[in-house]
This record gives sequence, C-alpha cells and structure tokens, in this order.
Amino acid sequence: MSETLDVVVIVGSLRKGSHTRRLANALAGVASASMQLEIVPIAELPLYNEDLEAETPPAWRAFRERVARCHAVLFATPEYNRSVPGALKNAIDVGSRPFGKSVWDKKPAAIVSASPGAIGAFGANHHLRQSLVFLNMPTLQQPEAYIGGVDKLLDANGAFVSEGTKKFCTAIMTTFEAWIRRNR
Ligand code: FNR
Repeated sequence: MSETLDVVVIVGSLRKGSHTRRLANALAGVASASMQLEIVPIAELPLYNEDLEAETPPAWRAFRERVARCHAVLFATPEYNRSVPGALKNAIDVGSRPFGKSVWDKKPAAIVSASPGAIGAFGANHHLRQSLVFLNMPTLQQPEAYIGGVDKLLDANGAFVSEGTKKFCTAIMTTFEAWIRRNR
C-alpha cells in the first residue's frame, strides 16, 4: 500500500457559492483513497507587505506551515480579467517569502481552471503556470484542465451531471497522483 498523499487545495475564489470550490470538492471526491485533499483557506491572509515580515501575521505563519508540510498542491482557479484572482496571487506571494524559504519550492502541482464561459479560464491557468515555473513547482502538463461551463457540470448535491466529465476529472486526479509520486 503506497503512502497516503497530503494534498493542499488552493481555491482562487472567495465567494460562498463558488463554482470553482464546488468543482474542487468534486475532484477530491473522485481522487483515489490514497490521496487526501484539503482546501486551505486564503481569504484571511493579509495582503503581502514585506514590512510585516518583522512581525509575521499569524495567518501567514499558519498558511506557510500548512503548505510546507504537504506533499503537493492542487490549484483550482477561476479567471479574473484573463488572469488569476488577486486573492490567489496574494496567497502565492505569502507562501513564497521570506526569500529562500518559499514553501512552494519543489512541491508537485496541478492546475484546474474553471469558468462558466467557454474558454475555461485558459488565461488564468497559464498566468498561474508562469508563477509556478519561477517557484520551482513541477506542474502537471497533461491532461490540461480548462473547465468551461463549470456552472452546469454539477448538480445541487455537488455530483457530476455527466459521466464524461466525471471520467475526465477522475483521469486528472489519477494522473496527478502518479505525477506527485514521480516528482516527490
Ligand atoms: C470574472 N469572470 C470572468 N470569466 C472568464 O471566463 N474570464 C474572465 O476574464 C473573467 N473576469 C472576471 C473578473 C471578475 C472581477 C469577476 C468577478 C468575474 C466571471 C467568472 O468566471 C465567474 O464570476 C465565476 O463564477 C467565478 O468563479 P467562482 O467564484 O464561481 O468560483
């Protein structure tokens, strides 16, 4: 039996009814039992300001500690103005400092971007990839996950409406697990 993988999930949307968060939960639901996924909240992280490093905000400390001990990170993000939401970028910045102590370093990652629109937040997905290159996170390349029409994929209970979508999301999680084990 392989070691259980601790996977931190960062959701780029802060709103209660977030389609992206519902999708992240559905992805967790189709992951194998040897992956444990936890959505780690980012809403309460003070905006990154290097001056605060003198007396690190407790929310930054807790976030950094949580990410530091995980095996991998799944980013689930909507797209704001063809990029990632500011809250997600802030979380990335908080985790990346102090210089030389980034908690993202070498953590295998995957990106699932989602939008009610047809393009599936492609712009956000690739802007995020740019940051992850710099942060030295080996990031799953295939299957690419640009999830369009996200508002119609799940029913009121959060279950996949279509078998095809469920199959695709299962494939993402299966491939991600193999990717994590290969890149740890
Ligand atoms: C959006 N939305 C959006 N959608 C998209 O496909 N491309 C975009 O560039 C944008 N830009 C954008 C900017 C801002 C400020 C907001 C609030 C929204 C629409 C977005 O996809 C939609 O609101 C989603 O429902 C957001 O994801 P959650 O909150 O449902 O997870």
